[in-house]
Amino acid sequence: MTDVAKVAALQATGISVRYGGNVAVDGVDVTVPAGGMIGMVGANGAGKSTLINALAGWSRGPATVRGKVRLGGRSMDWLSPHRRARRGLVLVPEGKGIFADLTVSENLALIRPPRNPRGRHPFSMDEIFELFPRLADRRTHKGGMLSGGERQMVAVSRALRAAPSVLLLDEPSAGLAPRLVYELLATMRRLVDRGLSVFLVEQNVRATLELVDELYLLERGKLVARGPAATMKDDPRILEAYLGTLKT
Ligand SMILES: Nc1ncnc2c1ncn2[C@@H]1O[C@H](COP(=O)(O)OP(=O)(O)OP(=O)(O)O)[C@@H](O)[C@H]1O
Ligand SMILES: [Mg+2]
Repeated sequence: MTDVAKVAALQATGISVRYGGNVAVDGVDVTVPAGGMIGMVGANGAGKSTLINALAGWSRGPATVRGKVRLGGRSMDWLSPHRRARRGLVLVPEGKGIFADLTVSENLALIRPPRNPRGRHPFSMDEIFELFPRLADRRTHKGGMLSGGERQMVAVSRALRAAPSVLLLDEPSAGLAPRLVYELLATMRRLVDRGLSVFLVEQNVRATLELVDELYLLERGKLVARGPAATMKDDPRILEAYLGTLKT
């Protein structure tokens, strides 16, 4: 057993998802070490959202899901997304879903911290506002008035209120200006350095490579490469398709 396997916060094996006859995810393994940050990249339609949703126990339509998901060694199979979240496996889905008519504070207050977090940390409002000072300034603003970046911060903050042990993030930086992308992902990295474990699906490969421990590349539902960020930076598949700088 490797060191990583010993301390895995999240271990998923053989995850496959079919929509009718269409195989969207095909036998993918994911290991998120405790206190680690894993990034996953891949083209549009590669199956990234399908996979991360499957880890959270969720699918966008009628889907057949196979494989095993373990959180801190405990099986999550057969648990609803809600139950998984209560145990610490918390998803911030693509497209976030915050309430436009509620203020920032009200949106955050909707998430009740677990009564028995079992060593996990439910973030208080003060801690959230310290992490995202922009939200503190806008706490009385309605969700519908926020910028894309601020909405992402609310979505992540709601997840933090639920005391995650593993945070699943689906393209948290979608639609953000490049400077904000880096800022948001760097904030996620700070949380990891304080002990949170993160699995991050991203489109900004450059920023992701700078912050994650390991990078996964998904192509047509299959995991085609994975490795330490420092190694993946020089992988020809990453260089060619995502960084546009293939050296010869
Ligand atoms: N509810 C559904 N029913 C049928 N097919 C679906 C459904 N949701 C997704 N798919 C298909 O599954 C494949 C993977 O889609 P998915 O959304 O997981 O990709 P993605 O990697 O997240 O893409 P993007 O980068 O655009 O977010 C695509 O071919 C998509 O058309
Ligand atoms: Mg997606």
